[in-house]
Amino acid sequence: MKIGIVGSGNMGAALGTIWAGKGHQVMFSYAKDANKLNRLANSNSQTTQGTVEEAVAFAEVVMLAIPYPSMEEVLAHKTIYQNKVVITCVSGLQPDFSGDTIGLSTKLSISVAEHISHVLQNSKVVEAFNITFAEILQIPSRELDGNKPSIFYCGDDVSAKEIVADLIEDCDYVPINAGGLRTARSLETLATSWVQFAVVAGLFPRIAMHSLQY
Ligand SMILES: NC(=O)c1ccc[n+]([C@@H]2O[C@H](COP(=O)([O-])OP(=O)(O)OC[C@H]3O[C@@H](n4cnc5c(N)ncnc54)[C@H](OP(=O)(O)O)[C@@H]3O)[C@@H](O)[C@H]2O)c1
Repeated sequence: MKIGIVGSGNMGAALGTIWAGKGHQVMFSYAKDANKLNRLANSNSQTTQGTVEEAVAFAEVVMLAIPYPSMEEVLAHKTIYQNKVVITCVSGLQPDFSGDTIGLSTKLSISVAEHISHVLQNSKVVEAFNITFAEILQIPSRELDGNKPSIFYCGDDVSAKEIVADLIEDCDYVPINAGGLRTARSLETLATSWVQFAVVAGLFPRIAMHSLQY
C-alpha cells in the first residue's frame, strides 16, 4: 500500500519504518529535524519524504501521529484526505499527560477520532495503535515468549478496517476489532489509563497489552 506518515516522530517513524520493511511504499512528512526526515527517507528503497500535503496526496492510507495540539493545522486542508483510510493514534493527551481525553477532566464530548471523522468527511477514519509505545515498535520484534501483544482498533468502514488490521499484523501485533468509531471514546480513555499505568506506576516503556480471546 502507499502510506503517508503525518508526523515523523517516535510513533510515525517507527510505524513507517516497519511498514516499509514489509514492502509498503512510505512517504514520511514533518519533523523539525530535517536530518531525521532525510535519514528516514533514505533508510529503505521504499521510503521517501515530502510535505504533509504531498504525503497525504500520495497515500492510500494516512497515519496521523501528531501531538493533539497540532490537529487543527494538520486537518486544515481537509479535501486532500477524501476517500483515504486515515489511521489515528492521537490520544488527546498533553505533554504532561493531562488534557483533552475523556476520563480526565476534559472539554471534549466526543473522541479525537470522531472529531477527525467529522472534520474529514468522506475519509475512513480508524483508531489504532494507541495502546502501545513507540519504544516497543522500535525493538526488532513485538513477539515475546511466543505471545504477540494486542492492538484494539475501531472504525465505521469495513474495508478500511480490514486494511488497518493487515497493517497491525505487519507490525507483529494481534489486531482486535473493537467495533465502530464511537468506541474510540473508550479506546482513548483506555489509552489514557495505559499511559497513567505505565508512566505514573513506572512500567514505561517495555510493557505491552496481551489480550486473551477464548
Ligand atoms: N509515543 C508513543 O509511544 C505513543 C503511543 C501511542 C499513541 N501516541 C500518540 O501519538 C502521537 C504522536 O506521539 P509521538 O510520541 O510520536 O510524538 P513525537 O515524537 O513528538 O512526534 C510527533 C510528530 O508530529 C510532528 N508535528 C508536530 N506538529 C505538527 C504539525 N503541525 N503538522 C505535522 N506534524 C507535526 C512533530 O514534528 P517535530 O519533529 O517538528 O516536532 C513530530 O515529528 C501523540 O498524539 C501521542 O499521544 C504516542
